[in-house]
Amino acid sequence: MATKSINTVWHKSGITRGDREKLHKHKSVVLWFTGLSGSGKSTLAHAIEERLYKNGISTYVLDGDNVRHGLCSDLSFTDSDRVENIRRIGELAKLLTDAGIITLTAFISPFKVDRDEARKRMLHGDFLEIYCQCPIEICEQRDVKGLYKKARAGEIPFFTGIDSPYEAPVGPELVINTCDISLEDSVQEVLNLLMRHGVILE
Ligand code: ADX
Repeated sequence: MATKSINTVWHKSGITRGDREKLHKHKSVVLWFTGLSGSGKSTLAHAIEERLYKNGISTYVLDGDNVRHGLCSDLSFTDSDRVENIRRIGELAKLLTDAGIITLTAFISPFKVDRDEARKRMLHGDFLEIYCQCPIEICEQRDVKGLYKKARAGEIPFFTGIDSPYEAPVGPELVINTCDISLEDSVQEVLNLLMRHGVILE
């Protein structure tokens, strides 16, 4: 995005990301969860956060529904507003990574190009994409928030998977079939990913 913030000068912090990581006693990273509404992104992200918290690891979950109550409350669900939503979250996740914590983002983030852009804005290895794969039929059958029913009734325009597209990731760091495996096993898969990437020890 072309910057309109001209005549600004970067202020270099005396405290580095490395200093903050040392303070927290672990590395920072972004776990970027993507998938349809109702595919289990938020449930999984919060369950992982609870496990990490118990092990003394500093985390923060950026949750689509929650962020749209504040930082992104000015955005709708048109394609262009979703692009801006994900751009903001990508930038925020980058700042939180610099702050030395593990950030878990739970957004549909339906467009591949936007997720790739968020990845590109970070250092190699700082962005781990996790696809919460669950067929729309099952998400719709569960319909935890009752939104699929409303979307089918024409009450919610541009609903992902119904009249707005979802582009599955190509080569994400992890795919979890959230409708086939238990929450506990899903959490373990993500912890294994963090260990493989040397973010946490065990
Ligand atoms: S994203 O597409 O911009 O990444 P985001 O994750 O922030 O979406 O928000 C998705 C959540 O908003 C869904 O889980 C659902 O609860 C709610 N929602 C409301 N309207 C829509 C819609 N038209 N499409 C998808 N989700 C919607």
